Amino acid sequence: MDTGASLAAIEEEARQAIAAAPSLAALADVRARFLGKKGSVSSVLRGIGALAPEERSRVGEAANASKERIEGFVRERRETLERAAQDHALAARRLDVSLPGIRPPQGHLHPITRVERDIERFFAGLGFSVEEGPEVETEWNNFEALGIPPDHPARDMQATFFTEGGHVLRTHTSPVQIRAMSGRQPPFRFIAPGRVYRNDRSPRHSPMFHQVEGFMVDENVSFAHLKGILYAFQRHMMGAEVELRFRASYFPFTEPSAELDYRCLLCRGAGCATCSQSGWIEAGGCGMIHPSVLANCGLDPERWQGFAFGMTLDRAAMLRWGIPNIHLLFEGDLRVLEQI
Ligand code: PHE
Repeated sequence: MDTGASLAAIEEEARQAIAAAPSLAALADVRARFLGKKGSVSSVLRGIGALAPEERSRVGEAANASKERIEGFVRERRETLERAAQDHALAARRLDVSLPGIRPPQGHLHPITRVERDIERFFAGLGFSVEEGPEVETEWNNFEALGIPPDHPARDMQATFFTEGGHVLRTHTSPVQIRAMSGRQPPFRFIAPGRVYRNDRSPRHSPMFHQVEGFMVDENVSFAHLKGILYAFQRHMMGAEVELRFRASYFPFTEPSAELDYRCLLCRGAGCATCSQSGWIEAGGCGMIHPSVLANCGLDPERWQGFAFGMTLDRAAMLRWGIPNIHLLFEGDLRVLEQI
C-alpha cells in the first residue's frame, strides 16, 4: 500500500467532510472519524509497526503532518460555525421597532389630591386664591394668635404634637389665616388646604389628616355670605340635594361659632351606622372671625370683618369613593388606590 497516496486521500476526504459539517456537533463527529482513536489517520499510525524500519519514520512524520493539517481544518470550521451561531443569536435579539411596546404601569393622583384640586378649582371660580403654610408651626400662629393662650382649655380639643425646638405640628389649617392676613390689606378671599396633625388614632381618625381652611374678609362680610358659600361648596361636593345644619358651637377664634353638619346621605336622616344613628354628619367648624384675631394680624376690627371655616378633606374622599376606614387612604396599598 502506498501510505503516502492513501494519507493524501484521507486528508482530502477529511477536508471536504469538515467543510460540509453543518454544526459543531457534526464537526465533532467528523473529527472523531479521522483523528479519533479508531479514526483513519490513527489506523495509518497503528499500521507503522508492519512497515520496514526505514519506512517507519517517513510514514510517521507524514501521518503526523496530516493530522495537524486536519486539526487545522477542524479549527477553522469550528470558528466559522461559532461565528455563524453568534450572528444568528444576535439577529434574533435585534430590536424590532414594529412590535408593540411594553406599557409602563401608569399611576394617578392620590384621592386626597384629587379632592384638594377639585376644591381649589371650585373656590377659584368664586375668586378665592390658595394660601399655604408650613406643617411645623409656631405656637403663636397655631394657638395664641387664634385666641388660645397656653393654659386655655381649647388646647385639649387638639391633642398636639410638639417638636423639640418648641414648635408644634399644626393641629389645624387656621394658622394660615394668621400668615395670610398679617402685613396685608383686605379684601381677602383665601382657601388653605393641607396636612394637619393630632395625636388621635381610630378607624375614623388618623394622626395625620387634611383640612381645608377658607376665609373672606372685607368691609361688610356677614354670616349670610358664609352660609351661601358653604351651601354652594357642599352642593358641589355632595350633590344638589345636600341639606346643611349650622349648630351653635365654640371656637376661640370665631364669634359667633358654628359646627356645620350635613344630613346623612346614606339614610337621608333616618339614622344609620355611618352617622351614628343621628341622621347628621359633622363637616367642620365655622364662624365670623373674632375681632382679636384680626387685631393680632394688624387689621382694624372696627373696619374689617370676615368669616372662616375649616373642613376635613379626608372624609370627603372617603364618602366619594366609599372608603370605610381613613387609614386605607395612607397605607399606600395599591389594591385600594388602584380602585379609585
Ligand atoms: N380650626 C378648626 C378645627 O380644626 C375649624 C375651624 C376653622 C373653625 C375656621 C372655625 C373657623 O377644629
